[in-house]
Amino acid sequence: MADAPSRAASLHPAAARPERPSGGTVTDAHPVAVVYGATRGIGRAVAWRLAESGHRVVAVGRPDARKPAAHAALAGTLDELERDLVAAFGERARPQLVRCDVLDSRASAAVVDDAEREWGRVDVVVVSAVFQGAGASQRVAQLELDELERYVRGNFTTCVAIAQRAVAAFARRGSGTFVQLVSGSSRTAPVRPVDKGGFMALAYVAPKAAVAKLVPLLAVELRDVAPHVRVFNVDPGLVITETMKQQGTARMFERWGTVDPDVTGRVVARLATAPRGDPLAQRLHGVEFVHAPQVFEEVWGTDAKL
Ligand SMILES: NC(=O)c1ccc[n+]([C@@H]2O[C@H](COP(=O)([O-])OP(=O)(O)OC[C@H]3O[C@@H](n4cnc5c(N)ncnc54)[C@H](OP(=O)(O)O)[C@@H]3O)[C@@H](O)[C@H]2O)c1
Repeated sequence: MADAPSRAASLHPAAARPERPSGGTVTDAHPVAVVYGATRGIGRAVAWRLAESGHRVVAVGRPDARKPAAHAALAGTLDELERDLVAAFGERARPQLVRCDVLDSRASAAVVDDAEREWGRVDVVVVSAVFQGAGASQRVAQLELDELERYVRGNFTTCVAIAQRAVAAFARRGSGTFVQLVSGSSRTAPVRPVDKGGFMALAYVAPKAAVAKLVPLLAVELRDVAPHVRVFNVDPGLVITETMKQQGTARMFERWGTVDPDVTGRVVARLATAPRGDPLAQRLHGVEFVHAPQVFEEVWGTDAKL
């Protein structure tokens, strides 16, 4: 299936590691953030803001061999992220690059364990990767069950698998922040069919609706076992993606008012760096839908719409 993120294969040779005296355990001085879907869009904005705020970023994207031709032509790669982060913030911001497909749930979850072994700590895990296939534009009647299963695996099962590993790593440290991207479209009523100008395909919204339950449930379960671990569901609002530009649907969406991906980048970095007892993080922890533009306007007092 995907490239297994074995340590030897997944590590970027140029990333500076903490020094390890023989036999000793060394923990990186920087907080470590694993960001899935860091090549472009919201995930890239999140990786950027976390690097800016001093995190060592483990940036996860798909292996090139797993990208369909249409996706391979989209702007945004792990190598570009690395180049741009180092140019902006210097060598200390060089990310570790990991290539892994969310269709492989176990390999995706193992990235968290590998990062913890490599750096001695994991402080933040953000899931912004999203599987998108033919089902994104198919009516229910056309949707093949194999395609539906890919959507469920990539956008639900894998999120659960990653959250399990993240929460276990955080519990070992006593704190940590898990964030996943949810979608407001999974809780609004459809107006027209997806192939007639509608924005809602069952294959996309159903796993998104299901995965939104993960964070409220985790919050309840963590109360007695790891009370300083925080979990957030963040809805970025309507963000124009490279895929929308490629498919020519960006202009239709722009009419509805869109949001810059950096709005979510800043909100996630704000939550990830919140000190213990921070009122905003406490209020949003475990909430089923946190609307990033609303939080942005509350914190920075500026209109989030483009
Ligand atoms: N854009 C919106 O308006 C909007 C609204 C609500 C919620 N969201 C949610 O926000 C999150 C980010 O969306 P976005 O708009 O930033 O999407 P995007 O621009 O399309 O980026 C998707 C990311 O996921 C990665 N990815 C795609 N398929 C993958 C696979 N099979 N395995 C591993 N990684 C894969 C892509 O990397 P590569 O293709 O380079 O591998 C890319 O980094 C998603 O969860 C989405 O559902 C977005």
